[in-house]
Amino acid sequence: MTSWTHRHVIDLSTFSIGDYVSVLELASRFKALPITGARKLPALQGKLVATLFFEPSTRTRSSFELAARSLSADVQSFSPSNSSISKGETPLDTALTYVAMGADVLVVRHSSSNVPKQLAHSLEEAGERTSILNGGDGLHSHPSQGLLDLFTLAHYFNPKEPLPNALLGKRIVIVGDILHSRVARSNLWALTACGADVVLCGPPSLLPEAFSSFVEEPPPGQKDDPVSTRGKVSVIRSLKDALGNADAVMTLRLQKERMHQNLLTGLDRYHLDYGITHESLKWCGKEVPVLHPGPVNRGVEMSSALVDDPSICLVKDQVRNGIPIRMALLYLMAAAESLTELPKNSKP
Ligand code: CP
Repeated sequence: MTSWTHRHVIDLSTFSIGDYVSVLELASRFKALPITGARKLPALQGKLVATLFFEPSTRTRSSFELAARSLSADVQSFSPSNSSISKGETPLDTALTYVAMGADVLVVRHSSSNVPKQLAHSLEEAGERTSILNGGDGLHSHPSQGLLDLFTLAHYFNPKEPLPNALLGKRIVIVGDILHSRVARSNLWALTACGADVVLCGPPSLLPEAFSSFVEEPPPGQKDDPVSTRGKVSVIRSLKDALGNADAVMTLRLQKERMHQNLLTGLDRYHLDYGITHESLKWCGKEVPVLHPGPVNRGVEMSSALVDDPSICLVKDQVRNGIPIRMALLYLMAAAESLTELPKNSKP
């Protein structure tokens, strides 16, 4: 495991291969622990993790809170509808309030891109040591989702050693509303860094051609890494052509809350052209897993029958893997000095 240098985790563009290895190795050790009893580790005893979700969430918020409790942190939830936001309080003043109450980590979700980054900057300027962990901001970034997707795929390809090199040379197809997706952006950084080729597929209104050069330059965190194996990104409009030779398919929710105009000719048409079904998966030429970050619009981006087919659909694995991945992130950010406290026998 390499030394961890991130006080805040805002996006994955600054992650080195060593960072991905650190997170996945730790997540494997946490995943191997029984869910009850023994999973409760003392690593974050005395630490306070606050979840400031200014935008709704089922999975991310709950699994960050479960992850924090599993490491014995105190957890404080914030709910905008019952908060002083309605009285005009700003996100920064909300964050500073939780910092004043002793928060060590703030997990922040916001509908505006870059709010977590601005909060991190403002807290540093104010001389505060509290860490910001981005729980999803606008269409910018969702780093813990990108990491849990990476872990889920690494586990699928190499269950004995689910590390980044399990992705090397794989062809991962991401289908749907790429334009509005922070999940797609985080996956683009993570998957290409680990050597996977990413094929993006969707209509021009949801997938501008410019995405093919999304990761043209190595991320800043990788400049010094000996990575000559970074994957490529391509845009293919036809679902049939995109799925040919795929090793895994990730489909994305249509994010109507971020669409400021009507970008679709209709949901039925969209499902016909880009819906992932048992039938369309035959174009892959072999059995491949399907991922979706959730929540799923059944019958739109994925058929309902496929959502309920655990032999192909890894949605439940993604949700389960979210807890050890978020434990790993919290552990690295808030308990780095006590890495030796982990049980020695917690092997993947
Ligand atoms: N995948 C995801 O971010 O889900 P939630 O919005 O439910 O947290």
